[in-house]
Amino acid sequence: MSTRKTVRDVDVANKKVFVRVDFNVPLDGDLNITDDSRIVETLPTIRYLVEQNAKIILAAHLGRPKGKVVPAMSLAPATKRLGELLGKDVQLAPDCVGDEVKALCDALQPGDVLLLENLRFHAEEEKNDPAFAQQLASLAEVYVNDAFGAAHRAHASTAGIADYVRPAVAGFLMAKELEILGDLLSAPKRPFVVILGGAKVADKIGVVRNLLGTANGRRSSADTVVIGGGMSYTFLKAKGYEIGNSLLDAESIGTVGQVMADAAAKGLNLLLPTDILAADKDGEDAQTKIVSADGIPADMMGMDIGPESAKAFAAVAESAATLFWNGPMGRFEVSLFAAGTRAVAEAVAKCPGQTVIGGGDSAAAVAQMGFAEKITHISTGGGASLEFLEGRDLPGVVALDQ
Ligand code: 3PG
Repeated sequence: MSTRKTVRDVDVANKKVFVRVDFNVPLDGDLNITDDSRIVETLPTIRYLVEQNAKIILAAHLGRPKGKVVPAMSLAPATKRLGELLGKDVQLAPDCVGDEVKALCDALQPGDVLLLENLRFHAEEEKNDPAFAQQLASLAEVYVNDAFGAAHRAHASTAGIADYVRPAVAGFLMAKELEILGDLLSAPKRPFVVILGGAKVADKIGVVRNLLGTANGRRSSADTVVIGGGMSYTFLKAKGYEIGNSLLDAESIGTVGQVMADAAAKGLNLLLPTDILAADKDGEDAQTKIVSADGIPADMMGMDIGPESAKAFAAVAESAATLFWNGPMGRFEVSLFAAGTRAVAEAVAKCPGQTVIGGGDSAAAVAQMGFAEKITHISTGGGASLEFLEGRDLPGVVALDQ
């Protein structure tokens, strides 16, 4: 993906600037933000715009309200947090379009910050409805996309809007994410190790394929791909192993088998678990047993990698010059099943090379385990970073000026 212009390349002084941010932050039952990293990461762009005397109109989604107004998905908690972080007043608009919102935007003074209410309260946002995109665009004179985490979505505020307002440029977070992830694909220091886990094979198999470079015959861009977690059982099954009641994506067995064959042909080191922590059920009171990866008992299921695999994966992680990790090695939310993910998180933290974590559960795991400070870059995009590493064009990036 070629380089995009950034907010530094355009004149924003005294202009109304529409900034798409990803404030899709986790909230607890009392609507307190439990992880504000996505808000913190957008501060450089917002502060820069304040310094440049722009009139700042922030727009974001929260959750999946499916086109309805859901009060628990209001951006009020994010507004409050942003105000505290910026040390200045941030106003929350009652909606994201309409006359009242337009009047609020028109009344902004240089340096003011207004956050629009959840874009997804309108179904037209996710439909990328042109009339809705035009309404959003009509609020401002410059469009900035700093929502890397939502860049894989072709929605009105991430893609369609750029048809109606120019310039359309990247914010600093977007630019940083694209640069760091782009380097993984184009110029990784070797050995380049990729660790993939988590439940869904379908979400990750495209990444393995792209790293293999089977499409264009080039050298595999990764040296070692480690597969653990829920997705690994489909790989073990494809090898003909007994996986008991472990998670299986039966439809992907053929694809996974082909990917393993391609990896062998290309000399890519594809590492699977050799031992598994099997359990009779999910939960803290489960009965567990360490078993060989080719012999999970028929009445048990794999819930974590075993100690031998954890040691092997950790050794590979620690020896990487470049490392990308997405997805836990087991159901780490349950302490009985957390050892494998913990071992990998610790090894990633110890790795002296460039370490990148692709959002989502693995980011939560390193934060929860206290290793976040030791990671070179924790991406704010889970789905977006995976689609990027799959080599796909991200609609939110393609829409921006080159
Ligand atoms: C995310 O949390 O990955 C982004 O904010 C995108 O959210 P979505 O998966 O609901 O589109």
